[in-house]
Amino acid sequence: MPDIRIIDGRAIASGLRDDITKKTRILMDETGRVPGLAVVLVGKSPASQIYVAAKRKAASDTGMNSYVHLLSEDASEADILRLIERLNTDQNVHGILVQLPLPAHINKQKIINVITPAKDVDGLHPYNLGQLVLRQNTAVPCTPKGCLYLIKSIRHDLTGLKATVVGASALVGRPMAQLLIQENCTVTQAHSKTADLVDACKDADILVIATGVPNLITAQHVKDGAIVIDVGINRIDECRLVGDVDFQDVTSKRNCAITPVPGGVGPMTIAMLLENTLEAAT
Ligand code: GUN
Repeated sequence: MPDIRIIDGRAIASGLRDDITKKTRILMDETGRVPGLAVVLVGKSPASQIYVAAKRKAASDTGMNSYVHLLSEDASEADILRLIERLNTDQNVHGILVQLPLPAHINKQKIINVITPAKDVDGLHPYNLGQLVLRQNTAVPCTPKGCLYLIKSIRHDLTGLKATVVGASALVGRPMAQLLIQENCTVTQAHSKTADLVDACKDADILVIATGVPNLITAQHVKDGAIVIDVGINRIDECRLVGDVDFQDVTSKRNCAITPVPGGVGPMTIAMLLENTLEAAT
């Protein structure tokens, strides 16, 4: 590898979690309040089960209460809505997260819309996404918030830099672009219909990729010196995890900083969820 810098998301997230643990203890000592995170999982997707177990463990490791609600794959919209309405009024619950994706028969937006915005620690309620666009203080979606933290661990002032976000989901790509605009970047939002992806990426100082397409981004997409944040977690060959970036190929570039998969963005998503939950309880 020439002079590549690996961004250690695991270590950075661990430091953040230590800090959140201390702040949680202070909140408890001063107010008697224990932050409570409710996670709703519908169905038995193995990947979602792993993510939810990690969120539950992270919450209890930091001294928060976590409540996991498992609903069967054939739960109705009404079942889920009833549960969320109960969580909205539960004094012990400060944050509510509905693990995505939901089964195909469920209207995801209808479910998210019912979460009380003050408890929406995922930042996905239309009110909170609107607040983000308006630059008001709000719960910011966990993955883009974690990506920005990693970018700023490399370079604090992003003013005037070119950033390309590949992927335009409401969960990652679109809020990511908003956060980079707030940092005074000039932002290109690329997506599955972008005609020339190399052209959209090759001049970017910052690249964030969230597509779910394994190894989509190769050395030809990356400028020397770029910061490359790989949000993808793709399981290939049964047990191997790869990102949306062809890590080996991109390490041939000079002077880049890049997140690994695993151990890059994933741990940051969880740290930011804990931060949002603490803030919701404060
Ligand atoms: N599925 C994958 N990432 C996320 C996330 O950040 N929040 C929720 N609710 N579901 C997810």
